[in-house]
Amino acid sequence: MSLIKSRLNSGLLAAALLSLLLLAADSIASSAVDEFLRSYVTNYEQQKFSEQVPLVQSNKSLIPAAVKKLVQDALSKDQDQNRKMYLLNMASSLASMHMHQNGDDKPLSEVEPIIKEEVEKMNARLAELMKWKTEERVIGNFVMMRHREEEKEQGLAPVLYPHWRHRIFFECKVCHTSIFRMKRWANDISQEKIAAGEQCGKCHDGGISFSATDEKHCGRCHVAATAAAQALHDPASFDQEELKKTADRIGAKWRPENLPGGKMPLDKWGFIDWLELKRRNVFTPLASLDKNVEEETRNGKIVFRTSSDFVDDVLFDHRIHSDWITCDTCHPEFFVPELGGNRVKMIQISKGRWCGHCHGKVSFTFANCKRCHSVPKSEQIEGALLRSKH
Ligand code: HEC
Ligand code: HEC
Ligand code: HEC
Ligand code: HEC
Ligand code: HEC
Ligand code: HEC
Repeated sequence: MSLIKSRLNSGLLAAALLSLLLLAADSIASSAVDEFLRSYVTNYEQQKFSEQVPLVQSNKSLIPAAVKKLVQDALSKDQDQNRKMYLLNMASSLASMHMHQNGDDKPLSEVEPIIKEEVEKMNARLAELMKWKTEERVIGNFVMMRHREEEKEQGLAPVLYPHWRHRIFFECKVCHTSIFRMKRWANDISQEKIAAGEQCGKCHDGGISFSATDEKHCGRCHVAATAAAQALHDPASFDQEELKKTADRIGAKWRPENLPGGKMPLDKWGFIDWLELKRRNVFTPLASLDKNVEEETRNGKIVFRTSSDFVDDVLFDHRIHSDWITCDTCHPEFFVPELGGNRVKMIQISKGRWCGHCHGKVSFTFANCKRCHSVPKSEQIEGALLRSKH
C-alpha cells in the first residue's frame, strides 16, 4: 500500500518537474515571441511600414507562433467585438507579410478561414440586432428576449408585446403597477407564470383574451419578425369589427363611427394620437379589471418655466396623466411629489429619465417638441401652478 503510494508520489513529482521544465522552455520561446509582437504592434499602430519589413525578415522562425498568439487573443472568450476584428486584421497582415518576405504561406492559410468565419458571424449578429430593432419601429412595441434560448429549442419566435393594441382596451393603470412594474426586463416574465394565470395570463386565459396555453395561439404572442407580425406594425389599419367585438366582450367601448374620417388619427410620426381618440369619444378603455375599484385622479396643471430663452415653457397636465396612470407609478419613483422638487433637464429626459420614462418609449416622441413646449413665455395659463426656473 505504502509502496504504491510512494511510487505514485514520485510519478507525480516527475510529472510536475517535467511540466515545470516544459513551461520554462515554453516561456523562453514565448517571451521572444512577445518581444517580437511588441515591436510589430507598435510599428503597426504607428504605421511604420518600412520598419516592419526587416523585422519580419529577421524573426522568421517566431512568426507562426506570433500569428497563433494574435488569433488566440482575438478569439478569447470575453474579447470585445471591435478588438477581436482589430487583432484578426493584425494577424492577417503579419501572416501575409511573412508569406511575401519569407515565402511561407502556412500561417496565412490558417488565418484566412478564421477571419472569414468571424466576419460571417459578425454580419449575422448585426442582421439579428437590426431585425429586432425594426420589430420595435412602432413606439411601444417591445421584443422580449429573456428566454430566447428556450424558445429557440421549441422553434418559437420571440414575443412581440404591442402596447398600442392593449391601450385600445386598457388604461396604463390596469397593468402598471399591479401586474407589471413600468420597467423593461424587470418583471421576470415567464411562460410558467403566464400559464399559472399571472402576468399576461391574467387576461390571456381564454376569458378576457385568447389563451396562452392553447397550442392554436402560441404564434399570436411568439410572433416577432414573422409575417403575422405585420398587423402589429400598422396602427393605421385594423379590423374595426374585431376591435368593437373585443371591447364589448370585456366591457370597454370602441366607437368606430366617431373616428375622424373613419381613420385612426395619427401624428406626423405615424403614431396614434390617443388624446384625439379620447376627445372624439372614440374609445373608453377599462381603468381596472375589478369593477369596484375607485379611480384616483388629480386636477391641475403645472407650467415648467424652462431655463432656456429659446424654447417655450412646458405644460404638464395632472388630470390627463392621472386618467391613465396611477399616482404611485410616478410618485416617488419618477418624481418627488412637490412643486419644483425635481431638477428636470432635457438631456436627462432624452436619456429616459423624468418625462422620458414614458415619452419616446410608449407615449409620443421627443421629436414632437411643441406638444410639451406649448406655452409661450408671455402667456399665463389660468389656475396653473408655476414652477420657477431651475
Ligand atoms: C396590458 C398591459 C399593459 C398596459 C395596459 C400598459 N403596459 Fe406598459 N408595459 C407592459 C409590459 C408587459 C411591459 C414590459 C415589462 C417587462 O419587460 O418586464 C411594459 C413596460 C412599460 C414601460 C417600460 C419601458 C422601458 O423602456 O423600461 C413603460 C414606460 C410603459 N410600459 C408605459 C406604459 C404606459 C404609459 C401605458 C399606458 C398608456 C402602458 N404602459 C400600458 C404592459 C402594459
Ligand atoms: C389586461 C389584460 C391583458 C394583459 C395583462 C395582456 N394582454 Fe395581450 N391582449 C389583451 C386583449 C384584450 C387583446 C386583444 C385581442 C383580443 O382578445 O381580441 C390582447 C392582444 C394581444 C396581442 C395581439 C395579438 C392578436 O392576435 O390580436 C398580443 C401579441 C398580446 N396581447 C400579447 C400580450 C403579452 C405578451 C402580454 C404580457 C406581457 C399581454 N398580452 C398581456 C389583453 C391583455
Ligand atoms: C399571451 C402571450 C403568450 C402566448 C399566447 C404564449 N406565450 Fe410563451 N411566452 C410569453 C412571454 C411574454 C414569454 C417570456 C418571453 C421573454 O421574456 O423572453 C414567453 C416565454 C415562453 C417560453 C420560454 C420559456 C419560459 O418558461 O418562459 C416558451 C418555451 C414558451 N413561451 C412557449 C409557449 C407555448 C408552447 C405557447 C402556446 C401553447 C405559448 N408560449 C404561448 C407569452 C406568450
Ligand atoms: C405622469 C406622472 C405623474 C402622475 C401619474 C401623477 N403625478 Fe403628481 N406630479 C408629477 C409631476 C411631473 C409633478 C411636478 C413635480 C415638480 O414640480 O418637480 C407632480 C407634482 C405633484 C404634487 C405637488 C404639486 C401639486 O400639484 O400640488 C402633488 C401633491 C402630486 N403630484 C400628487 C399626485 C397625485 C395624488 C397623483 C395621483 C392622483 C399624481 N400626482 C399623479 C407627475 C405625476
Ligand atoms: C408614466 C408615464 C408618463 C410620464 C412620466 C409622463 N407622461 Fe406625459 N403622457 C403620458 C401619456 C400616456 C400621455 C397620453 C398621450 C400619449 O400616450 O401619447 C401623455 C401625454 C402628455 C401630453 C399631451 C397633452 C395634450 O394635451 O396633448 C403632454 C404635453 C405631456 N404628456 C407632457 C409630459 C411632461 C412634460 C412630462 C414630464 C414632466 C410627462 N408628460 C411625463 C405618459 C407620461
Ligand atoms: C415630453 C415632454 C417634452 C418634449 C417632447 C420635449 N421637451 Fe424639452 N423640456 C421638457 C421639460 C419638462 C423641461 C424642463 C423644464 C425646466 O424645468 O427647465 C424641458 C427643457 C428643455 C430645454 C431647457 C434646457 C434644459 O436643458 O432643460 C430645452 C432647450 C428643451 N427642453 C428643448 C427641447 C426640444 C428642442 C425638444 C424637441 C426636440 C423638446 N425639448 C421636447 C419636456 C419636453
